[in-house]
This record gives sequence, C-alpha cells and structure tokens, in this order.
Amino acid sequence: MNNFSKVRSVRHTLSNLFRKGVCKVLSVGPIPTHIAFIMNGNRRYDQKLNLAKGTGHSIGLLVMLTMLMHCCDLGIRYVTIYAFSIDNFKRKPEEVERGMDLLKFTFELLSEKNSIANLYSVKFHFSGNLDLLNEPVKNAAKELMANTANNSKAFFTFCIAYTSTDEMVSAIREACDERRRAMQEQKKTGGNYGLTKPVEVVDIKKHMYMAIAPYPDIVVRTAGENRLSNFLLWQTACSQLYSTPTLWPEVNFWHLVLAVLNFQRNHSYLDKQKKLL
Ligand code: IPE
Ligand code: MG
Repeated sequence: MNNFSKVRSVRHTLSNLFRKGVCKVLSVGPIPTHIAFIMNGNRRYDQKLNLAKGTGHSIGLLVMLTMLMHCCDLGIRYVTIYAFSIDNFKRKPEEVERGMDLLKFTFELLSEKNSIANLYSVKFHFSGNLDLLNEPVKNAAKELMANTANNSKAFFTFCIAYTSTDEMVSAIREACDERRRAMQEQKKTGGNYGLTKPVEVVDIKKHMYMAIAPYPDIVVRTAGENRLSNFLLWQTACSQLYSTPTLWPEVNFWHLVLAVLNFQRNHSYLDKQKKLL
C-alpha cells in the first residue's frame, strides 16, 4: 500500500467512526420509523457539471444505495423512494429507456448474493402499476423481491410506475370488487350484508400499494422544490417535509442528519397530530 492509499484508508476509517458516533448521538432522540425520498435534480446535475445525459441518474442510484446504508445504520426500518412516476413515462423515449435500463441494472445488482440487500438484511418491495413496466424490468423486480424475501432488518420500497392518484383509484377498485364479491356470496346464502354497508376508509386503506409500510415520518425532497408531485398523498398527512436545495446526486449523510433533527424537533407536535387522525 502506498502512502496515498494509507492516508485514504485512515480517512475512511475515521469518517466511518465519526458517522457511527453521530448515529449514536441521534439515537438518544426519537428515530423515525419510515423515511421517504423524492430524488429530484439528477438531470440538473448533468447540466451543472456539463456531463453526458444520464450520468446524474447513475450517480443518483449510488447515492440512493449509500443513503439506504446510512438509514440502516441509524435504525430506520422503512425506506421508500420515488424511483419512477407514471408521469415520467411522458419524457423522451430515450430517457425513459435509459431510466428503465438503470432500474433493471440496480435490481440485478441488489439481487446478488453479496449485495448490500443481504449484508444489511433489507427486504425489497415495489409499489406501483407494475403492468406498465417492460418484461425484463418486471422480471428483475420480481427476482429481487424473491431473493430478499427472508431479510427482515429493514424494508425498502421502490415506488415505480407510481402516482398517488393511480394508487387510490386502484385501491378503490379493489375495495369495490371485494364488496361486490361479498354481496354475491351473501346473496347465495340469503343474507343482506354488504347491500347496505358502504365502502369505508379502512377498506380502501388496506388495498393501497403502500399498505406494506407505516405512514412515513419524513419526506425528503431535493433540488429546492417543495411539491409532493403525486407521491404518497394519502400517507403524508402527518409527515414532516424536509426540502433541501441540494441536487440528489450531491446529497450525503449530513442531509439525512438534518432531516432527522428537524423531525426530532417537531416530534411531539407530529405525534399529537397522528393521534387525531
Ligand atoms: C428525478 O430527477 C429522477 C426521476 C424520478 C426520474 P429528475 O430526472 O427529475 O431531474 P431534474 O429534476 O429534472 O433535474
Ligand atoms: Mg425533477
């Protein structure tokens, strides 16, 4: 090992130790159960640094995996990302294709035996209208779910081909179908259950794509915008929003620390609001 490599390795060890120390200090306060990310600003990163198109999205993917590790180190059980919205399909065909290829590559990488999915025992899940994806991406997603099904330390959800409005419509349809089936059953046996009982919030809630996770405590949006862009609208009534001007590929551990501190500062108020729901 030359001197340069030695210095780099010492620096790496020290910064890891420092991060671990910061996680310990933060753990004195309440740690969010679920954090969601709107990873915005990848294309602007290409423009800012004059890079080839798609570079920001590739770097953004590495940032996402690093962020997942930071969340695990901090003891956050659920992590959700807005990976590709239904509206993103309206982008230029070559950009959509690049995005899909990158997602497929990511799922395959995470499916490998020694991937961080298994090192950190993370179970992967997908929320969205997966029928809108092409077969290779869909298959890679299914494989990732199957390969990580027994992991249980953390739960990571890719919202892909997702919008909240689509999620709600799909859940309402499922709830109505379920009610219709119950009515048909009851008719056969001569009862009248379901003929008078309307569909309730709980019926819709259980059919949401995101029913697999508790509501997010924090939603982080990067690149200086404060919109939710049709992301988890049903689930974010009591979430703490954290917006940073930093572009997603430039996001690091300290942004997570600031988002968690912001959540901890407002925790007792948010808790009271949750109880009113
Ligand atoms: C978000 O970053 C990534 C996706 C979900 C596709 P963008 O691709 O929207 O990058 P900007 O915001 O236009 O810079
Ligand atoms: Mg954007």
